[in-house]
Amino acid sequence: MLMLGIETSCDETAAALVEGGTTRWVIRSNVVASQVDIHREWGGVVPELASRQHVRDICGVVERALADGGAGWSDIDAIAVTQGPGLVGSLLVGVSFAKSAAWAIGKPLVAVNHLAGHIESIWLEHGPISLPAVILVVSGGHTSLYLVKREGEYSLLGRTRDDAAGEAYDKVAKLLGLGYPGGPIIDRLANEGNDVAIRWPGTRLTNPDRNAPERDGRFDFSFSGLKTAVLRHVRQRQSELGVDRLPHAEIVDLAASFQRRVVETLIDRTFSAARWHGAKSIGVAGGVSANSRLRKDALAKSERSEIPVYIPSLALSTDNAAMIAAAGLRHLAAGRVAAADLNAAASLPL
Ligand code: KG4
Ligand code: ZN
Repeated sequence: MLMLGIETSCDETAAALVEGGTTRWVIRSNVVASQVDIHREWGGVVPELASRQHVRDICGVVERALADGGAGWSDIDAIAVTQGPGLVGSLLVGVSFAKSAAWAIGKPLVAVNHLAGHIESIWLEHGPISLPAVILVVSGGHTSLYLVKREGEYSLLGRTRDDAAGEAYDKVAKLLGLGYPGGPIIDRLANEGNDVAIRWPGTRLTNPDRNAPERDGRFDFSFSGLKTAVLRHVRQRQSELGVDRLPHAEIVDLAASFQRRVVETLIDRTFSAARWHGAKSIGVAGGVSANSRLRKDALAKSERSEIPVYIPSLALSTDNAAMIAAAGLRHLAAGRVAAADLNAAASLPL
């Protein structure tokens, strides 16, 4: 089966060709047109600019994915597209394109949840992993833990009550005047700093989530307290020093200490969930899984605790369409095909 995947949920227009059946997948092409340069000027993603840019880029990106994969429209067996969650205007571009293309070539359309795509990036990279597995999906919009008992079935164990980890990175970087997106910038600066220079408060949630009281909240995350602590610290130091921008030495220490706290929280909660649920493996996916410290510390803890940890390569960590095609192949094999009235869903749950 040759699947064309399309992903336009945020600020990346992406298309990819992935070949395979239910388990072993081979990436034939993986094209991503990033809009980062457009949004950087505004300090974050501007939804209207994002959807307009997707419209400009989608045809070229898909044509490139076909050419790179050495395939024509007639070789494609099905088209998978991100239905949500994401920015509705951006999602609509991908969904409309995929619907029209599937209709034009007379092939099935498959709807994919963006988070399922991130989860499947682990299988796409590493092949089948031991189950049950606990998967951390950590990105700009989400920080969630899932239990996978059977391939393709995901049950939510915990999620952030407020900010996503990537969002916290982006906000802290903005506060420090470092630019957008903040994750890679802080990651780089953190390498120069002292990670115990500043002690931040930790948060462990024991109370149930008011918005989901039926769920056990012990594996939930919260990053807004840390973000506020960073804000207070920065404001205080700015007024003590009488400057708008903190000296480089303070910025790198702050970046390192902030990164340490975020990474420790993510790893601690993920390994606790894995132990609690008797997981045989752990996966870490989503844009923040590109973080150098998270990758290093998660693999080091894996060796100590003897639970294997799987992380996708950098190209499959951040938003891409190969992961959407892979999830699409799994849905297609299970007979889950979308109807022609498929619509984008900005807050599609998983
Ligand atoms: O998965 P993704 O590409 O898009 C969403 O689905 O949100 O994740 C983007 C997020 C951004 O918040 C970005 O700052 C963060 O991933 N990110 C990182 C790193 N690279 C990207 N965060 C920390 N360290 C990194 N190296
Ligand atoms: Zn994502």
